[in-house]
Amino acid sequence: MLIFSGGSNKKLAEKIANGLALSLGELEIVTFPDNENRVRVIDQVLDQDVILVQSTGITPNLFYMELFFILDSLKRSGAKSITLVIPYLGYQRQDHIFREGEAVSLNVIIKLLEELGVTKVVSFDFHSIKIPVMFSVPVIHLSALEAFANLINEDASDDLVLVSPDMGGIARIKKLSEMTNGLPFASIVKDRDLNTGDIQSAQINGEVKKKAIIVDDVVSTGKTLVSAADLLRKNGVSEITVMATHAILAKDAPKLLQDSVIEKIIVTDTINLPENRKFPKLEIISVSDQIAKELKDENT
Ligand code: R5P
Repeated sequence: MLIFSGGSNKKLAEKIANGLALSLGELEIVTFPDNENRVRVIDQVLDQDVILVQSTGITPNLFYMELFFILDSLKRSGAKSITLVIPYLGYQRQDHIFREGEAVSLNVIIKLLEELGVTKVVSFDFHSIKIPVMFSVPVIHLSALEAFANLINEDASDDLVLVSPDMGGIARIKKLSEMTNGLPFASIVKDRDLNTGDIQSAQINGEVKKKAIIVDDVVSTGKTLVSAADLLRKNGVSEITVMATHAILAKDAPKLLQDSVIEKIIVTDTINLPENRKFPKLEIISVSDQIAKELKDENT
């Protein structure tokens, strides 16, 4: 078995490789002055089972193009199978048509991945439980909820409530409640402007307590979390923590979150964050062991 990494999250790929007692294989990725890439696999992959780690994040188009070329180079070089570890699957929030005339962008990505030779996909906390069935190849859908539940269970108290910042997160919050000995949960009902993505109104469904943990899949602009936290604070919650799997942290999100009423924001390393996007309230936990364990189990 060989493991390679694209340029999106080499730190995570190295940790996964360590967990599998492997070293990362060699890929040459050249960027020309006009920003086009050229990719070449250096190691011999003929008839080998290959794992490729590539995430997306704040620059999905860049990392998807790179991924497509790496897949092509692996396939042309004769790889027997390609397991794509894509901890954050970019474009997943465009998994269906919201308004007439729209592209189903995730469907396009899936078609390309499969056409380019991906034989299995490993990913984390999809936005919707319908996403795995959009693929024709097997999908291993992992979740950070177990890690979050362990953290919560270490310090559980009677004055704690789990909160989903939108109705789409209800299944997630119910599952986390089961994993934390039935902690109570509430949800925020919000309306978004489909053109701008801005939140127009929000209210809480359920009872709140002194402490709240807001749980979400993705943090992009941070606006969902900040408006949820402001609403909870207005309703008497004094201690607010966030647990979210994928930290895209677009635009001013780091500043917005650091300046918010949220005390701590726990995310995972499914997306690599450059040092200048990190901030004091942010805590990053790694999903590398979970991925390495899954890949080991799959291959034994
Ligand atoms: C929405 O349905 C998702 O679960 C996240 O709440 C949302 O994508 C976060 O986006 P933002 O951080 O831009 O508000």
